[in-house]
Amino acid sequence: MAGTAPPKLAAAVCNAGGLGSIAVGATDVDGARAQIQQTRALTDCAFNVNFFCHAPAQHDDAKQSNWLNRLRPTFDDLGVTAPDTLSEIYSTFLTDDAKFQMVLDECPPVVSFHFGLPDAEKITALKDKGIILFSTAITLADAKVAQDAGIDAIVAQGWEAGGHRGIVDPNSQDTRLGTFALTRVLAENLFVPVIAAGGIMDGAGIRAALNMGATCAQMGTAFIDTDHSLADASYRSALHSDAAHNTVMTPVVSGRPARCLANEFTKWDDLIDPSDIPDYPIAYDAAKSLIAAAKVAGISGFGANWAGQGAPLSRAMSVTDLMKTLKSELDTTR
Ligand SMILES: Cc1cc2nc3c(=O)[nH]c(=O)nc-3n(C[C@H](O)[C@H](O)[C@H](O)COP(=O)(O)O)c2cc1C
Repeated sequence: MAGTAPPKLAAAVCNAGGLGSIAVGATDVDGARAQIQQTRALTDCAFNVNFFCHAPAQHDDAKQSNWLNRLRPTFDDLGVTAPDTLSEIYSTFLTDDAKFQMVLDECPPVVSFHFGLPDAEKITALKDKGIILFSTAITLADAKVAQDAGIDAIVAQGWEAGGHRGIVDPNSQDTRLGTFALTRVLAENLFVPVIAAGGIMDGAGIRAALNMGATCAQMGTAFIDTDHSLADASYRSALHSDAAHNTVMTPVVSGRPARCLANEFTKWDDLIDPSDIPDYPIAYDAAKSLIAAAKVAGISGFGANWAGQGAPLSRAMSVTDLMKTLKSELDTTR
């Protein structure tokens, strides 16, 4: 969970018997290397490092300036001057050769990809290092492409899931398959393991995913209100409010569809034509400025508060207690 799950959280999951993840899609190469080394220092167990493989952003000065003009009144209301320009604040793993070399050097046990796949040469080089590879898929077609490319396990991300939708081309039609239908379809059609993701918040959810043919479950939202999460107080309190019952899949925050707790950003979702939004992560640059301005003004409601449809089931717990609870719930559910 980029920005929310630091090495401490990932390592605590690993030390409790899960596969903890650090997501370095929103981090530069030195930051990513540091996070890998910190995780390694905190656990002897296997862990996952997650990368974003989105197509490089297309810069469009007119679109970016129109977008800033649209947001300007909100910046004005917050008493802050809107930025003059926007930039591509994160690189994509597809073209970031320094990050790729860093992964080969650091050789984490597991690497996962979101939004697409690196090229065949990179996949081979990572596999030659003994790294196990996962990739998110939202359709059987995406999953087959990944399986054929040599990916070792597929994360079946349902429409319910919190955070960014693992869609490869955000301008293509989204079939919006739910976690269970997708998990079952993938389990019936792939020879690699399927990891169910989306709306799974407790042992009953994990058991149901296993019963649908998943090998294991991937959970994000369930860990937002844990001790090691970087979620701030307003994010945590929104998780336990009505906003949790109204999550919205919206491109307005980052430029790519992502499921977010209802807030000031999601109010714009119906009002904005997605084609007016600059590419990911250029739009995210604007949102981050707004979020920072709102924070300084003491106004909540402008966070990138990613969460899945299971958000109302969120529990405030330590990672270790949550892992123990999940295990015992799983053991008592058939
Ligand atoms: C706060 C948050 C941040 C996330 N960040 C990432 C990320 O950086 N990379 C990624 O592949 N998935 C990310 N996801 C999506 C998760 O990998 C997973 O698909 C999702 O959390 C599963 O649904 P759930 O949130 O209902 O458990 C994020 C999800 C959340 C809630």
